[in-house]
Amino acid sequence: MARLGKVIDPELGRSVTDLGMIAGIDVAPAGTDGGRPAYDVTVRVELTVPGCPLSDTIVGNITAAIASYPDAALTPRIEVATMSEAKLADLVAGLKAERKRNPFAKPGVKTRIFAIASGKGGVGKSSVTANLAATFAALGYDTAAIDADIYGFSLPGLFGVTSQPTNLNGMLMPVTAWGVKLISIGMFAGADRAILWRGPRLQRSLEQFLSDVWWGEPDVLLLDLAPGTGDMAISVAQTLPNAELIVVTTPQPSASDVAVRAGLVALQVPMRVRGVVENMSWFDHHGERLEIFGHGGGQRVADQLTAALGHDVPLMAQLPLLPEVRERGEAGRPAVLGADGRLAGTPLAESFAGLARALMA
Ligand SMILES: Nc1ncnc2c1ncn2[C@@H]1O[C@H](COP(=O)(O)OP(=O)(O)OP(=O)(O)O)[C@@H](O)[C@H]1O
Ligand SMILES: [Mg+2]
Repeated sequence: MARLGKVIDPELGRSVTDLGMIAGIDVAPAGTDGGRPAYDVTVRVELTVPGCPLSDTIVGNITAAIASYPDAALTPRIEVATMSEAKLADLVAGLKAERKRNPFAKPGVKTRIFAIASGKGGVGKSSVTANLAATFAALGYDTAAIDADIYGFSLPGLFGVTSQPTNLNGMLMPVTAWGVKLISIGMFAGADRAILWRGPRLQRSLEQFLSDVWWGEPDVLLLDLAPGTGDMAISVAQTLPNAELIVVTTPQPSASDVAVRAGLVALQVPMRVRGVVENMSWFDHHGERLEIFGHGGGQRVADQLTAALGHDVPLMAQLPLLPEVRERGEAGRPAVLGADGRLAGTPLAESFAGLARALMA
């Protein structure tokens, strides 16, 4: 049992023993093996849901934990079953009770929260969110992301997610892709999606994503906001008092003027504007930097927000227009990652790593 206490359920972030998933252990002597006593060990595991997608991982980790026993040669045999409804209901009730409604609003929470906003649409918020999240995860941070663009969700596509979140008696498990725990309305179909969309929609769906999803306590939470200067940013400030706003713009005035207004939301609600990211700053044409969308928008937004808000709002990154950003995004892998899921050694990946480190500093 002590060895199994180190086996963590990947979705719930708790040990399988804490979660009551070990229903029984039988040990039968089996002679000796290389001078050590040998035993056959049968472990009865009860998974939370039938056909749990992580069943193989959990069973593999349990097998490895038993095989690592130092003082005897143990031959593991794992019997997999599913928890009774009653036991699962108890487990979920226990987890819910211990967690406040919105785990990120409680005092002392360590999670850094960054909301990515823009004003103008199509400037690359979602691409920046996806690549920044993948970068944080690749750098070793426990990373989560919420697709807060309810009508124009795009994170499932950018991360190549086609599966649905596991629903444990009304508690949803985020889907992990490229190391990032994700939730998006795009992961729900039919009736589930209709439920999320009911009522005063935006505020409710954000609250549901925060309180009905089992997040654990990630190091970083990113929110990909819808374009516009309004409602969602206010909801974020109200529900997530620690959230910091990152304003994305392109270099052109028509984007940067609206981006400033998106940042000025911080005059209405208490929310720190952390910095500005300029996207599509240039296109590298055989070594020549073509400024397709003009010049200076990021710096203009940073200067104007610094003046209006009375604290430093720096221009934190300038990112090139790069066909891979779109192509890889459409293929479901953030462009900063190689096929192996590690940070690629490209200038783009270095820019994102620099941004991630600056944000955490
Ligand atoms: N640096 C970049 N280089 C090349 N293409 C990019 C870059 N950033 C974003 N794109 C592309 O531009 C388009 C818009 O980007 P994205 O969807 O990330 O913007 P958005 O601000 O989230 O849009 P919306 O306002 O609709 O939510 C996408 O096709 C995306 O692939
Ligand atoms: Mg978007």
